[in-house]
Amino acid sequence: MLTPVLEGRVASPNGSPMNAIEHLMEEHRTLEGILGAMETWAESLDARTDGENGRQLGFFATFLRDYVDPVHHQKEERVLFEALIEHGFPRDIGPVAAMRREHDECRALVRRMTSLAGSAHEWTADDKESLRGVVFGYIEHLSHHIFKEDNVLYPVAVSQLPAERLARMVVEFEAMDAAAGRASLLAQAASLWQPPPYSAPAHAL
Ligand SMILES: [Fe+2]
Ligand SMILES: [Fe+2]
Repeated sequence: MLTPVLEGRVASPNGSPMNAIEHLMEEHRTLEGILGAMETWAESLDARTDGENGRQLGFFATFLRDYVDPVHHQKEERVLFEALIEHGFPRDIGPVAAMRREHDECRALVRRMTSLAGSAHEWTADDKESLRGVVFGYIEHLSHHIFKEDNVLYPVAVSQLPAERLARMVVEFEAMDAAAGRASLLAQAASLWQPPPYSAPAHAL
C-alpha cells in the first residue's frame, strides 16, 4: 500500500491522478503488456516470413529503445535514484547501483534485437534460436527487475524520501514525458498488444 499522504499527483493516461511512485508502477504495467506481446510473438516465429519477423522485431526494439529507456529508465536514473543518493544511498554499491546495472543489461539486449532485426540475410534455424534466446532473456531480465523495484526499491523510496521530494518528482516526470513524446509512444504501443498475427503499423515499416 502506497503512503496516502504523498502529495503532487499527475494525471494517468486514463485520467486518474497518480503520485510519482504510482506513476512508475503504472509504467511497469505497460512494460509487462509489451513483454507479454513479445513472448507471444517470439513463440510463433515460424508462422511468419523472415521479412515480417524482421519488421516486427524492429518495431519492438524501436519501442523499447524509444520508450523504456528515455521514458521509464531515465526517470529512475536521473530523478528517483539521484533522490535516493541525495538521501544517503550509495551510488556505486547497493540497490541503486544494481538497478542501474540491470538497466545497462536491458540496453545491451535491445541493441542485440536491433542488430538481428536489421540482418539482411534469411534467418536460419540457429538465427531464430538465437533470437528467441535474446527476446526471452530480455523478458525474464526486465520482469525480475520490475518485481524488485515494485516490491523492494519503490517501497523503500516511499518510506525514505520526504513527501516534498516525491511531490516534486511528478513535475519532473511530466516534463520528461513531454520531451520524450510519451503519449504518442503509448498510442503506438497499443498495436503491440493485439493478438498475433498483426500487421506492423505504417510508421514502423
Ligand atoms: Fe528500473
Ligand atoms: Fe522501473
